Amino acid sequence: MKIGIPAETRPHEMRVAATPETVKKLVSQGHLVHIQSGAGVSASYPDDVYLTAGAQLVDAPAAFRADIVLKVQAPTDSELPLFKRGGVLIGMLDPFDADNTARLATAGVTAFALEAAPRTTRAQSLDVLSSQANIAGYKAVLLAATLYPRFMPMLMTAAGTVKAARVLILGAGVAGLQAIATAKRLGAVIEASDVRPAVKEQIESLGAKFLDVPYETDEEREAAQGVGGYARPMPPSWLTRQSALVHERAKQADVVISTALIPGRAAPTLISVDTVQAMKPGSVLVDLAAGRGAEYEGQRGGNCPLTEADKVVIKHGVTIVGYTNLASMVPADASSLY
Ligand code: NAI
Repeated sequence: MKIGIPAETRPHEMRVAATPETVKKLVSQGHLVHIQSGAGVSASYPDDVYLTAGAQLVDAPAAFRADIVLKVQAPTDSELPLFKRGGVLIGMLDPFDADNTARLATAGVTAFALEAAPRTTRAQSLDVLSSQANIAGYKAVLLAATLYPRFMPMLMTAAGTVKAARVLILGAGVAGLQAIATAKRLGAVIEASDVRPAVKEQIESLGAKFLDVPYETDEEREAAQGVGGYARPMPPSWLTRQSALVHERAKQADVVISTALIPGRAAPTLISVDTVQAMKPGSVLVDLAAGRGAEYEGQRGGNCPLTEADKVVIKHGVTIVGYTNLASMVPADASSLY
């Protein structure tokens, strides 16, 4: 089988769909690997390492003409005609994006969206949502630590004592749990919230405090169970109480990292404009749902309406980070885990 690996061309994308290590495995299985020259450079995998692994260096059209094309992100409009009809594409193709799926169908491409792999123990090695969200959670904390004008850990020095940063994590799935673990290593004091009661134990086992919003009706209790391990939209009554608690906790926080997503729907609004206004000057919000939230003033925010996709903005004294592709900022390991 001829396997093609084109370079990624979308903005802010530094990853590559196969590393020299994976190429070596594919070649040892008898496949011919055609990688676009330079495809791995931004992830620190230069061409010669792919050559040593047994790949052939080709141009973009040749990489797309393979029987199976491995991509990180969905191909662009100009790349689609490069596929051969009946070619197979494997990548993170956003299966909830109906327009994109239609584009691939029209081009005659048989496409496998890796995000649609089941979240089960058996499929764990295919689970790109986990491998990439894990990196995003880690990077979110490091970005916050860089932008926050104070220390993260408590320090007692001869020059004086510094208090530990208070970190609030909203959404404790894969990214949120990694954010807790990373913030803990930096010495922060952490609180976290989620709709799913199953995560309470996981939050506490990482040394964070679980922010409980008790369920008051059977409808709330049932919605909170989610479906297939994912969250479902919560009834407005619960969201109102959650919002009041988030408002109070965010006021005290130095860093907020929000990761709340609901598959196939807009991300929930958890940090309102009022809440940002009430937050401390210099505090940092890293919104991993950037560009996937409800529409606000003509553009899609994240878990906070004030988040601007792929930008860092300062609003009401709060630094809001809206990068949409944090995994790509750790491109070597992100590619390798992908
Ligand atoms: P996600 O990225 O879809 O969402 C992130 C988090 O946001 C989730 O924990 C969700 O409950 C939470 N959330 C949604 N609405 C919220 C709200 N209003 N307030 C607060 N939090 C809210 O989730 P992710 O990280 O993809 O994980 C989904 C599930 O899949 C988890 O249960 C995870 O444990 C499970 N999983 C199972 C695996 C396996 O068995 N192999 C592998 C990876 C994940």
